[in-house]
Amino acid sequence: MTPFTADKMFLHADRIADWQAGKLPPPVTVELDLTNLCNHACPGCTFSHLVNVDKSSIPFDLAIRIVKELGEIGVKGLTFSGGGEPLVYGEARVIRLMAEARAAGMATALITNGSLLRSERLLELCKWIRVSLDGYDAETFAKFHGRTEGEFEKVCQNLKTMAAMDKHGCTLGAGFLTDAGSLARGDFDKMASFCAGFPGLDYLQFRPLVLSMVADPTMQGGGLPSTEDVAAIMVAYQEVRKRHQRPGYRVLMSSDKYLALAEPNAGRTYDRCHAHFLQAIICADCKVYLCCHGQGLERFCLGDLRENGFAEIWRSDRAREVYERTNPQHDCPPACRLHSQYRALQQLQRSEHGSFI
Ligand SMILES: C[S@@+](CC[C@H](N)C(=O)[O-])C[C@H]1O[C@@H](n2cnc3c(N)ncnc32)[C@H](O)[C@@H]1O
Ligand code: SF4
Ligand code: SF4
Repeated sequence: MTPFTADKMFLHADRIADWQAGKLPPPVTVELDLTNLCNHACPGCTFSHLVNVDKSSIPFDLAIRIVKELGEIGVKGLTFSGGGEPLVYGEARVIRLMAEARAAGMATALITNGSLLRSERLLELCKWIRVSLDGYDAETFAKFHGRTEGEFEKVCQNLKTMAAMDKHGCTLGAGFLTDAGSLARGDFDKMASFCAGFPGLDYLQFRPLVLSMVADPTMQGGGLPSTEDVAAIMVAYQEVRKRHQRPGYRVLMSSDKYLALAEPNAGRTYDRCHAHFLQAIICADCKVYLCCHGQGLERFCLGDLRENGFAEIWRSDRAREVYERTNPQHDCPPACRLHSQYRALQQLQRSEHGSFI
C-alpha cells in the first residue's frame, strides 16, 4: 500500500458499511481550499478558470467555524490545498487553522507549490506535505509553473530546508505532473534523479497532467497519453524506480490514473459518483462542491457555508439532486480523484458468496 492506492479506504469500513446500507456517512476526508489566489502561473493548472480570476478567500472567522464543525461531525482528515496556493492565505493563519483541526481530532495535510513553505510548525502539524515541484531544472519548472529560475531555486531551497528540519515524522513528498512530452524528454529519469539529491525527502510521485474541457471550459483538452504511451510510461517508471529508489526515498506513481487513461472512455463504466461519500471539498468561495474537479461550477455546488452548516449542506436535498444528476461519463474529467476508489467499491458490490472467504 502506498499513500496513493485506493485500498486505504477500507480502513474506514464503518463508513463503507453505512454507504452499502444506503446511508450517507460524513466524509472521511475534506479538502479545504482557503484562497483562489496563487503566486505561480502554471499554464496547465486544472483550476486556471478560477485561480487569480475569481479572487475569493474564505473569511478567517468562517474558516475557524468550518474546521470546528468538520471535527465535530467525524471528518478524519483535512487537506489544505487549492484552488490557489494555500500559503498565500498567510502562513500564520494556515498554522492556526491546522492547530484547530488537530484540536478537533482531525489529521492535517498540505499540498503546496512550496514557494512560501518555511515553517517547522507545518512539519509538526501535518501528517504529510506534498510540494508540487514539477521540475528538475529552471526550464522544466518554467514550463509547468510559469515562473523563472529564481523561483525554482527558492522552491528547491525551501524543500531542502524543510526536509533537513523534519524531526516530527511528517511525510514530505514532491510531485511531478507528466504530460504528453514527458517520455521523450526523459522526465521520469531526470526528476527521480534530481529528487534523490534532497536528503530527507520521503518520496517523489508521478501523476498525469489532465487538461479537461469538462472541468475547465477555458482549456482545450488533449495532452493525454495514448494507450501505447501508457504502456511505455509503465516500463519507464519501473526502470526509474529500480535505478533511483533507496531506503527512505520512494519513487511512486499514481498507476491507477495512467491505466484509466489507457481504457476506453477512461474506464468510466459507471454513471454516478458513488464514491463521493468518501471526500468533500470546500472552496475559497465558501461553497461545498461534489468534488475538487467541480469547484467553481454551479452544477457541482452542494451549498454555501455562509448560509448553512456543513452537515446540513452534506445531507441536503440539493446535495442529493447534484449527486443524482451528475453523470461522470459526461460531466467529469478522466482519471479523477475518486475513480480508483469507485472501481474498488464496484468490485465489492459485485462480489458473490460474501460469507465464504
Ligand atoms: C491546484 S493545486 C493547489 C495547491 C498548490 N497551489 C499546488 O500547486 O500544489 C492542487 C494539486 O493539483 C495539481 N494539478 C494542477 N493542475 C493539474 C492538472 N491539470 N492535472 C492534474 N493535476 C493538476 C497540482 O499538481 C497540485 O498537486
Ligand atoms: S501553483 Fe497550484 S494553484 Fe497555482 S497555478 Fe500552479 S497548480 Fe494552480
Ligand atoms: S470528477 Fe470523479 S470524483 Fe468528481 S464527481 Fe466526477 S466522478 Fe466523482
